Amino acid sequence: MVQGKSARRSQIKINIAIDGYSSCGKGTLAKALAKQLDYIFIDSGAMYRAVTLHMLQLGVDVLNETDVTDALQSLKLSCLINKQKQTEIVLNGKEVESEIRGLMVASKVSEVAKILAVRKKLVAIQQEIGKNKGVVMDGRDIGTVVFPQAEVKIFMTANSAVRANRRFKELIANGDSVSLETVRKNIDQRDSIDTSREHSPLSLSSDYCILDNSDLSKAKQLEIALEWVNDALNATNS
Ligand code: CDP
Repeated sequence: MVQGKSARRSQIKINIAIDGYSSCGKGTLAKALAKQLDYIFIDSGAMYRAVTLHMLQLGVDVLNETDVTDALQSLKLSCLINKQKQTEIVLNGKEVESEIRGLMVASKVSEVAKILAVRKKLVAIQQEIGKNKGVVMDGRDIGTVVFPQAEVKIFMTANSAVRANRRFKELIANGDSVSLETVRKNIDQRDSIDTSREHSPLSLSSDYCILDNSDLSKAKQLEIALEWVNDALNATNS
């Protein structure tokens, strides 16, 4: 019964982890789910991007783990939840949404995200946000490390041409003048580093529901994900 389901939905809160490759639409699905469920949406990648921007602003060599770890001491990162229940990343007192999306940050972020001290700092913030549940968070290690007990874990993928095209259009719309080839290389390079790093690599385990959205509309992918969420809510309630 639809009525019963939605009543349960509003009473019980769960955490939803969405992990997957670069630029495959994790954020789009996470936002739509959060809106539908009245949950908080957290883009964990934005936090890694903000830390990377901090390093670039300080002129830190991101390949030098000691220097990056030292520079974390002067990092002031806050995640504000706005009226739309989405995170706004504030770095050292300044809202940095537009700056963190450019290719400059994208070309360094996976190196920064390899560093254990960075991961420990950000995972602690993410776990604090999720402790009362009602969170949809997307990233690379959300279902494996941040919320290993998440009631719903979704692993998203899409073919690499589709992903490169989507990100290329976003960057151009954001005012970046990049070539499709540069975007494709960045995505491939990040995927390679993110899946092979020592700490918290992106990896698929059997508790994930797999969503390949190469040929799915946004509405269809939301419908599929909501079915998984409803199953989890029903299981939690029984
Ligand atoms: O939006 P896109 O999928 O391109 O990437 P993102 O979610 O903004 O993440 C940027 C980078 O941050 C990734 O390529 C990873 O290197 C890192 N990241 C991570 O290591 N762990 C997370 N939970 C989220 C992002």
